[in-house]
Amino acid sequence: MSIKKQAFGKTKDGKDVDLYKLTNANGLKTEIMTYGGIVRTLDVPDRNGNFADIVLGYDTLGEYIENNPYFGALVGRCGNRIAKGKFTLDGVEYTLATNNGPNHLHGGVKGFDKVVWDAEPMEDKTSIGLKLTYLSKDGEEGYPGNLNCTVIYTLTNDNELKVSYEAETDKATVMNLTHHSYFNLAGHGSGDILGHELMLTADNFTPVDEGLIPTGEIKSVKGTLMDFTKPMPIGARIAQVKGGYDHNYVLNNSDGSLALAASVYEPKSGRVMEIFTTEPAIQFYSGNFLDGSNKGKGAVYNKHDGFCLETQHFPDSPNKPNFPSVVLRPGEKYTHLTVHKFSAR
Ligand code: BGC
Repeated sequence: MSIKKQAFGKTKDGKDVDLYKLTNANGLKTEIMTYGGIVRTLDVPDRNGNFADIVLGYDTLGEYIENNPYFGALVGRCGNRIAKGKFTLDGVEYTLATNNGPNHLHGGVKGFDKVVWDAEPMEDKTSIGLKLTYLSKDGEEGYPGNLNCTVIYTLTNDNELKVSYEAETDKATVMNLTHHSYFNLAGHGSGDILGHELMLTADNFTPVDEGLIPTGEIKSVKGTLMDFTKPMPIGARIAQVKGGYDHNYVLNNSDGSLALAASVYEPKSGRVMEIFTTEPAIQFYSGNFLDGSNKGKGAVYNKHDGFCLETQHFPDSPNKPNFPSVVLRPGEKYTHLTVHKFSAR
């Protein structure tokens, strides 16, 4: 196992950015930047032991700063959408930055994906890790409260990439942290992900309106194009799904314990990724807005060339009293654990 640090450039306001290279005992490797907590590369073996980098990304910091559709990033303070960027908490109306038509998306104009995190390497007998911390100040992007966040990425010798989140606030606030890697288990830049077989442990999803804001309804996937309760190629029905998949699935496990949320199998390479989470939901996004304008790490990324599975609370939760609460109050601790387990068959 090893962890190595290298300088990776500066932000426009002159902050130094570092890149950490983590390698586990089996040769699995990942590179994580202090800018946005971005996972830049993730190398895992196929069924013959050949490694490929299975996440979309860029070569340089500059490209991430200029045009990043959240490749590999940590997302906060509230991942996903908040309608019109408004919500009311304890009788006070808050107005957030809007950056997705009339709505607030992934924390606003300068979300947690665009800030520089403090980093500290970690190591124990069976894993290697990187602890990232960030203080989001009261009023940032319109959110109330100073929010102290810690995210620990761990690469274990069981071939898992764990993302563990904690946060505390000094004023009541809303929050929903997630991780936004775009995966292609055949290797980034190898074409579309439509042949990947996906299974989600979700009997229900939250239907959305034209602006991708949930209607508030919780609907069964049974008999719909949304059903992934049994493994199904992503492309099998995608042509009939307007715009492609970009939906919040309500996980069957909702008690906060760690449980299987998703399993993805790529038939050519044999690579498998299982996702376990303590969160109540997962956003399945089939890379619908990739259009070839994102060129990275020697590849051109076209529509559906990567998919995201973002473990989260439901979109627009601050405005939907029937959804699990995303309110965090002083004295409480936010925790969230997501494990990506890699294997091949
Ligand atoms: C959202 C998409 C959005 C994308 C941004 C995903 O998490 O669900 O609607 O376009 O992030 O890259």
